[in-house]
Amino acid sequence: MVKKIGFLVGSLREEAYSKKVALAFSELFPDGYETGMVEIGHLPLYNQDFDEVEGMLPESYTPFREEIKGYDAFVLVTPEYNRSYPAALKNALDVGSRPYGANLWDGKPVAVISQSPGALGAFGANHHLRQVLVFLNMVPLQQPEAYIGNVHKLLNEDGSVKDEKTTEYFQSIVDAFVQLIESTEQSKQ
Ligand code: FNR
Repeated sequence: MVKKIGFLVGSLREEAYSKKVALAFSELFPDGYETGMVEIGHLPLYNQDFDEVEGMLPESYTPFREEIKGYDAFVLVTPEYNRSYPAALKNALDVGSRPYGANLWDGKPVAVISQSPGALGAFGANHHLRQVLVFLNMVPLQQPEAYIGNVHKLLNEDGSVKDEKTTEYFQSIVDAFVQLIESTEQSKQ
């Protein structure tokens, strides 16, 4: 059966490097895999009352949660905001984790890819995010780690990757993630 990989992008801006990096990665999955970009920017900030007080659930939550249910694994591509990851991404994770007892991320493999025009490759964002994913009981790809520094030098205007070495690095991350997805599925059988 085809496996579905959902990409969540932490940046909402139109020309985001994160979106370009996500697209580049999405093209590297092998046959038998389908990828989709999950919109997160339209989700109202999570309020526990939405799930607990009748009539308060925002319209956008149900289709978002249905979409999340349909994916077998996730790739989170994030910029770094003040040494952490953006609120929009945390909000999406929170919305998918509730109501209590209905954590839609539970048991699903996840790869974290952080990027920055700076040299550190958004290390801080990557590790703050990992802390949350562990609590959500996701199965994070541990190695290779994906800190993409100096991102503006690696991509062309149209978002395509400039050189073979970078493509090989991206491919090594996808290959390891595919292995993790396969082994996680086998351990559930
Ligand atoms: C940033 N930026 C940034 N960069 C970084 O390497 N470490 C950081 O802590 C921050 N902090 C930060 C906070 C806020 C509020 C903004 C808007 C930006 C710069 C950031 O890496 C740069 O704008 C990227 O281009 C953002 O990624 P996208 O939008 O291109 O995907």
